[in-house]
Amino acid sequence: MERTFLMIKPDAVQRNLIGEVVSRLERKGLKLVAAKLFQANEELAKEHYAEHVEKPFYNKLVSFITSGPVFAMVVEGKNVVEVTRTIVGETNPTKAAPGTIRGDYGIDLGRNIIHGSDSNESAAREISLWFDESELNDYILNDEKWVY
Ligand code: PPS
Repeated sequence: MERTFLMIKPDAVQRNLIGEVVSRLERKGLKLVAAKLFQANEELAKEHYAEHVEKPFYNKLVSFITSGPVFAMVVEGKNVVEVTRTIVGETNPTKAAPGTIRGDYGIDLGRNIIHGSDSNESAAREISLWFDESELNDYILNDEKWVY
C-alpha cells in the first residue's frame, strides 16, 4: 500500500466542502491515515510549494494557502497517487472533467479546492512536512478486503 498527501484548500474549507471531499475518498475505498484542520504559516506554505518558487503565481499561491485553515490529510491505498489525481481532476477547474472534485466544485485556477501529491517522492516529502510520524495512524480498515 502507498500513501499520499492531500490538502483541502482554504476556498473549499470556507465553502463547507470538507465532508463532501472526504466522503468521495472514503467511498472510493481509500483509507484515511491522518487528518487535521490546520492554519499553515508562510514558512510551511513556501516550503510546500518550493518547486514553484520561480513561477509568476508563487506569491499568490502562498498567500492563498495561508489565507485560512486547510484540511490536511494522509490517505492510503493501492496506487494511491494515481487514483487520487484522477479523482481530483486537472489543475485548471475549467478543464477538469465533471465527476472530478475540481470539475464539480471549482471554476477559478487559483481556487481549485484541493491539492494532491503528484508522485510517490513528493508524497513522502509532503507527508513529512505536514505531519509528525506520531500523527499517522496504523490500523486495519475492515472494508479493505472488499476493495482489493
Ligand atoms: S506547473 O507550472 O505546471 O508546474 O504548475 P502546476 O502544476 O499547474 O501548478 C502548481 C500549483 O500552482 C497552482 N497554480 C496557480 N495558482 C494560482 N494562480 C495560477 N495562475 C496558478 N497556476 C497554477 C496549482 O493549483 C498548483 O497547486 P496545487 O496545490 O499543487 O494544486
